[in-house]
Amino acid sequence: MKISGNINLPGDKSISHRALMFASLTDGECIINNISTGEDVETTRKCLGQCGILSQKFGNKVQITGGAFSTPELPLDCGNSGTSIRLLAGLLSGKGITAEFIGDTSLSKRPMNRIIEPLNEMGVEIGSNNGYLPLTIKPNMLKGLSFSPSIASAQVKSCIMLAGLGGEGETIINEKIKTRDHSEIILEELGAPVSSNSAIRIKNLEKPLQPFNMTVPGDPSSAAFFAAAAAIIPNSSITITNVLANPTRVGFFDILEKMGGGVEWKNIHKECGELVGDVHVYFAPLNGIDITVEMVPSVIDELPIIAILATQADGPTSVSGAEELRVKECDRIKAVCENLLAMGGKIIERKDGFIIDQSNRLHDTNIITYGDHRIAMSFTIAGLLTEGRNKLDDEACINISFPEFHKVLTEVMG
Ligand code: S3P
Repeated sequence: MKISGNINLPGDKSISHRALMFASLTDGECIINNISTGEDVETTRKCLGQCGILSQKFGNKVQITGGAFSTPELPLDCGNSGTSIRLLAGLLSGKGITAEFIGDTSLSKRPMNRIIEPLNEMGVEIGSNNGYLPLTIKPNMLKGLSFSPSIASAQVKSCIMLAGLGGEGETIINEKIKTRDHSEIILEELGAPVSSNSAIRIKNLEKPLQPFNMTVPGDPSSAAFFAAAAAIIPNSSITITNVLANPTRVGFFDILEKMGGGVEWKNIHKECGELVGDVHVYFAPLNGIDITVEMVPSVIDELPIIAILATQADGPTSVSGAEELRVKECDRIKAVCENLLAMGGKIIERKDGFIIDQSNRLHDTNIITYGDHRIAMSFTIAGLLTEGRNKLDDEACINISFPEFHKVLTEVMG
């Protein structure tokens, strides 16, 4: 078996959430093409609908009309989606909308103090269950904030940016380590009072944004699964077209290249301010590397699949400075270590990451996904290295980000 073919993937999840939210800030009808088909983005669309922002979905195209926000009558259920809760909390604060947020068991265990504290400082009254959901926001007159986040998180940054658009005076954000910058790029492109050099500066959005049409580039986090499969299965070669090539998001491909993998980008161009390109990935012998704290934000969602690459690399691969993985959809450090050990892999757990050694003989096993889509997809790919296939305790969780995963995998396996 080898991995081959030419594929095009559904839109990036992070950009899809933002496109919907930014469309709500316009005063007319926007069209978003190739929107992510995952449940998380649908969650954002439904929550916006509860706040008066109406939209219609036709396949992977959404027509959405911005402008008229209203107070939701029922709690906004953000399901499994950290991006929905954290960005919507900022957006609705900026629009002066009172709301309650709830979520599933996983989201209810994820820390919200990271947005509660800065929003509070801006003038939002917030109630929570000791820093966890349910969360209620009651915005008053918002004032700008000068903010240096202690955690590298694009969700927190974007929350404060969106709130800042409704604030009096300037909001200034200084990141120690740069995280994904879609909010800066796209808002600037849409003419919002946002600039980003060494610091990000946001002023009050005095008039609505102009309605827009955009096509969301393919999701590099979804692309990483097939690229990883091609990189570790002999004789494989795959091309993924129209993939988001934003430097804050292609850490997986940069790391794969540093490990000795075959990676070539072509046809790089810009769409809505974002770099997009075609990436060709082919099998080549891999070597281990050290992944350190400054590299972590650009691969924060790809570290589980990088762990699978590392099992095939000559020499150890270490990941450090990645404690954020413990508060994702599940504790991803624990989930990667447990499942890899169960497959016969060589991995040592650290508080802030792991160290992996080459293991030529992985065997198939029962995978505990903890309902986490990225654990489920990473260990499906790991299963391709075994004689049988891994059995997941939860296949449905893949729908959170990438319902087409199995269909595309079948296609590239020929
Ligand atoms: C996201 C940011 C990341 C990432 C998540 C999506 C975003 O979270 O893990 O899947 O769209 O801003 P953090 O910013 O909290 O690390």
